Amino acid sequence: MTYDTQNTKTGGSTAVDSGVAASSSRPILEVKDMCKTFITKERTIVALDHVSLSVKPGEFISLVGPSGCGKTTLLRIIDGLEKADAGLRALDGVPLDGVSQEMAYVFQDINLLPWRSVLENAALGLEARGVNKKDRHERAMEVLEMVGLASFASAPPYTLSGGMQQRVGVARALAVRPKVLLMDEPFGQLDNFTREALQIEIANLWAKLGTTIVFVTHDVDEAIFLSDRIALFQPNPGRLTEIVDVDLPRPRTDYDVRAHPHAIEFRSYIMSHLRGGKGTLE
Ligand SMILES: Nc1ncnc2c1ncn2[C@@H]1O[C@H](COP(=O)(O)OP(=O)(O)OP(=O)(O)O)[C@@H](O)[C@H]1O
Ligand SMILES: [Mg+2]
Repeated sequence: MTYDTQNTKTGGSTAVDSGVAASSSRPILEVKDMCKTFITKERTIVALDHVSLSVKPGEFISLVGPSGCGKTTLLRIIDGLEKADAGLRALDGVPLDGVSQEMAYVFQDINLLPWRSVLENAALGLEARGVNKKDRHERAMEVLEMVGLASFASAPPYTLSGGMQQRVGVARALAVRPKVLLMDEPFGQLDNFTREALQIEIANLWAKLGTTIVFVTHDVDEAIFLSDRIALFQPNPGRLTEIVDVDLPRPRTDYDVRAHPHAIEFRSYIMSHLRGGKGTLE
């Protein structure tokens, strides 16, 4: 069992540093010294204070921390939906500016377009990227099959349950074949049973497709079940304080993970860390 007490803030030379697309071992996604302060009439909030993170190709990494520690802000900045005050980001060694077409974002609140069919909703990201109708419908159908919703392709979204709508959101993101999939509490509004089913589905999709995933969650068990690594955040100012390697065997089943002695230790360590305690992990 291992953990990294130094976040990547103090790491060595990176593609972001050099701007050079280098070796095959380079991270697929790099964030360096990201800073963001929100100033409102009432207060000034340091949402991100020099956050750095390197994500390996094919990795499943979760961002976990108390409300207000900057997880969504970081994800939005990674995608280009929000502009940072300072800091750099790079995809595959190439510095990014603006919204990246090579990443896809799954929101907590999926907001499917009610006047469009499930298929047309799943094809939205492709449409935005200028893919022609025939190709986008083919690719949307392919991902709907992956998430078990092919038979609902022509249905309007309001006929779907919350879990099914969330699956459409995942399909919409996967349809663009992103290099990195960003997911912000995608299962946060679902009941426990649906949530567990979708956790297993996303783990299977991830294993099958090899897509790099950056996943935000409040749920420590969800993070342990899904992740290769878990980045722990603290608020005021929002900062990355530690990265935990979840070196549990794969494939994982929910039962195995819950019962695994290391998982129990991870859980108590992470909870203690998030409550501000120090905790130890051997
Ligand atoms: N547009 C904004 N204007 C002002 N303050 C903002 C804005 N967006 C975020 N903040 C503040 O920045 C801090 C970080 O917010 P953020 O949404 O990133 O946190 P979070 O970790 O995602 O929280 P949660 O777990 O509740 O989703 C919070 O204090 C929040 O109030
Ligand atoms: Mg959030």
